[in-house]
Order: sequence, then C-alpha cells, then structure tokens
Amino acid sequence: MTTMTKVTIRQEELADWTAIEAILDATFGEERYRKTAQRLREDRLPAEGLSLVAVDGDQVVGTIRMWHVMAGNVPALLLGPVAVDPARQGEGIGAQLIRMALARALGRAYRAVILVGDAPYYGRFGFSREHTRNLSLPGPVDPARFLGLELTQGSMKLARGMVRGTGDFALPVPAAASIAA
Ligand SMILES: CC(C)(COP(=O)(O)OP(=O)(O)OC[C@H]1O[C@@H](n2cnc3c(N)ncnc32)[C@H](O)[C@@H]1OP(=O)(O)O)[C@@H](O)C(=O)NCCC(=O)NCCS
Repeated sequence: MTTMTKVTIRQEELADWTAIEAILDATFGEERYRKTAQRLREDRLPAEGLSLVAVDGDQVVGTIRMWHVMAGNVPALLLGPVAVDPARQGEGIGAQLIRMALARALGRAYRAVILVGDAPYYGRFGFSREHTRNLSLPGPVDPARFLGLELTQGSMKLARGMVRGTGDFALPVPAAASIAA
C-alpha cells in the first residue's frame, strides 16, 4: 500500500539539475545512457513546463521529464525518466509526478504520450501496449515495455512508423558565418 507523502511538485529549474542527475545516477546508474529512449533525448531540451521535480523542503526527491517527439505522424511526448530518491520510494511521489505531468500535457498540441517502462507500474496511469503496436523506436526495445497513452481519443489509431525526437537542441547550432570561418 502506497503512503501519500506531502511534497511540492513544481517545474524543474536549471538549479535543480545537479540534484536530478544524482537521483538518476542512484536509480539507473550508467545504464541510462545506453537506453534506446535516450536516442530520442540526447542533446535535446526537455519539454518546458512538463518536466517537474518533487521537492521536500529544499531537497529534490523526485524527477520526471517529458520530451517532444513525433510518433509516426502524431505529435506526442516521450515520458521519462521518472525517478524517486531511493530513500523516498513507495511514498506515492512517483505517482504524483506522473499524474501532474499528464495533467499538464492535456489541452496542448500533443495527442499522446509514449514511454519505455514497466507495464505493471504504468498500467495504473492508463498506459498500454495497444497504442504503440505499429510504431518503432531507433534501437532495440522489449515490445512489452513500449507503451502509450492517448491524450485525445483515437489519436494513436493511425500512428505508425518511427518515433523521432523533435525538441530543441540544448547546444546552439553554430551560425553559418562561423562555420565558413
Ligand atoms: C518507479 C518509481 C519512479 C516509482 O516511484 P515511487 O514514488 O517509488 O512509486 P509510488 O510510491 O508512486 O508507487 C508505489 C507503487 O508502485 C509499485 N511499483 C514501483 N515500481 C514498480 C515497477 N517497476 N513495476 C511495478 N510496480 C512498481 C510499488 O510496488 C507500489 O505499489 P502499491 O501502490 O501497490 O504498493 C521509483 O520506484 C523509482 O525511481 N524506481 C527506480 C527508477 C525506475 O525504475 N523508474 C521507472 C522507469 S520504468
């Protein structure tokens, strides 16, 4: 049984990044850089307003990020990673982060949310395999872990093809003049 704990959920800020990295290292370790989903995230900025932290006092205890993607021809979000400080897992913090991020995604231009993760956990938020059957990711993935959630009903019925990252790049692209120089 999950105990609901009182934490504040707010948008992540640049000043949170060291704490977020520490939680990701503690929960996923080096493996996180080799995940197929990482191919859709690397060098890109997370979706603004949809990447959140859970804070207890001045301590970051959980993180969730969303990323702009096209799921075939459907504008969508890639959810993840979601991670909670190992000392604070099982208190409902992960669920609060996911519900808040999904609530914020509603009513925007995105039609769906996809992720690679444990179906027994994400099923409780409405994610299922059904919505990603005709989609591919840019690398190997266990099909049972490739899940989707429609934000508008029926949006994933015609989603087929490759998922591509579409978010802004974190590093500025050099101006043409400096390339020529
Ligand atoms: C997965 C994670 C984000 C969940 O956050 P959390 O705050 O611990 O989870 P909550 O307190 O909201 O929910 C706990 C419930 O989820 C279940 N749960 C947690 N991880 C699970 C998993 N991988 N598969 C199935 N169920 C899981 C717990 O058994 C518990 O079930 P209960 O409510 O029936 O008791 C967190 O445990 C974590 O950071 N894990 C390591 C990183 C990770 O695996 N991230 C997810 C990528 S798939």
